[in-house]
Amino acid sequence: MLAIGCDHGGVALKNQVLQWLRDNNIEYKDFGTNTEESINYAPIAVKVARSITSGECDRGILICGTGIGMSLAANKVKGIRAAVCSNSFEARYTRLHNDANILCLGARVIGLGVAIDLIYTFLNTHFEGGRHQERIDEIAKIENGEM
Ligand code: RB5
Repeated sequence: MLAIGCDHGGVALKNQVLQWLRDNNIEYKDFGTNTEESINYAPIAVKVARSITSGECDRGILICGTGIGMSLAANKVKGIRAAVCSNSFEARYTRLHNDANILCLGARVIGLGVAIDLIYTFLNTHFEGGRHQERIDEIAKIENGEM
């Protein structure tokens, strides 16, 4: 199950992405927002992030104006590796090397075509493991106060 959420800056792009997910039979849970009314991004980011750390969802997509606020907030949740990407090289390598579990998109930065390309790449690229596992284990050590 894919978790998805946005603030007002990302709602128009999210609605287009939801249509693409439905067209491609990709199951999702939408954590809002669903209007253009101004809303803070952190409460949405934390809902999507916790749906992943609880095991309810496998991966997530967060959309705001730049993708940055969402990533900063989501990365405060232990176990989350949220990456802002605006090209497919970044989306591919954040899966291969960082095992990112949330993709953050900037609706004021990219259009629908690039967003779909990033989401497709993010969902279809597998973590390489090996030396990269050791590296993300060190991120967990920071979270646990062990580094
Ligand atoms: C909202 O205006 C904007 O600040 C937000 O969508 C996001 O870009 C923050 O990082």
